[in-house]
Amino acid sequence: MPSTIAFSSQKGGVGKTTSAVNLAMAFAVGGYRVLLIDLDPQGSVRYSFGIKEAAERGTHQLLTDPSVPLRDLRMSADGQGLDYVLSNIDTLKHERELAEKIGDLTSLKRRLDEEAQDYDFVLLDSPPSTGILALNAMTAADYVILPLQCESLAIKSLKRFLHSFRELQMTHNPDLRIAGILMTMYNRRLAVHRKICRQMYETLFDSVFSTIIPQAKEIAEASAIGQSVITYNVNSIGATAYIRLAKEMLDRFGFRPELAVK
Ligand SMILES: Nc1ncnc2c1ncn2[C@@H]1O[C@H](COP(=O)(O)OP(=O)(O)OP(=O)(O)O)[C@@H](O)[C@H]1O
Ligand SMILES: [Mg+2]
Repeated sequence: MPSTIAFSSQKGGVGKTTSAVNLAMAFAVGGYRVLLIDLDPQGSVRYSFGIKEAAERGTHQLLTDPSVPLRDLRMSADGQGLDYVLSNIDTLKHERELAEKIGDLTSLKRRLDEEAQDYDFVLLDSPPSTGILALNAMTAADYVILPLQCESLAIKSLKRFLHSFRELQMTHNPDLRIAGILMTMYNRRLAVHRKICRQMYETLFDSVFSTIIPQAKEIAEASAIGQSVITYNVNSIGATAYIRLAKEMLDRFGFRPELAVK
């Protein structure tokens, strides 16, 4: 049975997609079987795999059409043990259709319960909202990772997130846990980053991952040329940070075996 991890944040551009792709790759190169699902109509995950064309079949069918099996919707990263389903929720019509068809929020959960049992981890990239897609992700998930940038609005966006998290937990998924808050795009040369980061640890203790994702040019370069930072440069600071995050997740929640990558 897989552990399902949703990347959620109402705020845009905080590193959800980057973190979902790179944590997925870190688990995969470490020997785990991983499925990554893009639930964001922006469809950013495909750029990280260097796919230029929008997918014809993908998350839209996964959520609305049980007659199309998951195995016909997923793609594979070459030789990496990582499968992914791309987002093709690219029109308003699709979004309206989704709202009508998946109003009960459990569509994704049901698909994963039935068809994703062979994976160790299922990672869900969410749009920056609390709409039906983000809520489907949180309903299907065991854990939420909340990426946050070290900026003054971080705490405000955290409070807004916690509000919808608790509501969803009460109504749809009482077992949902916050795996951790992930500080992203950290620049230690900036006093404001150091200050906000320190405040986060002082206020929220170990709810914040001890792994911090640095602002690193190789992370942006990798996604610009359609790769994860781990396949782009495994020894870079950025790749090391995501591999460390994978190990921290395994340690925190007692997943075995340990990551094969040292
Ligand atoms: N650690 C990092 N260092 C440098 N650049 C980064 C880092 N993390 C993300 N980026 C860049 O920042 C931009 C936003 O990241 P990303 O797309 O992952 O955010 P997001 O939260 O998924 O955004 P959205 O809410 O729009 O889906 C991207 O161009 C990405 O390449
Ligand atoms: Mg994104």
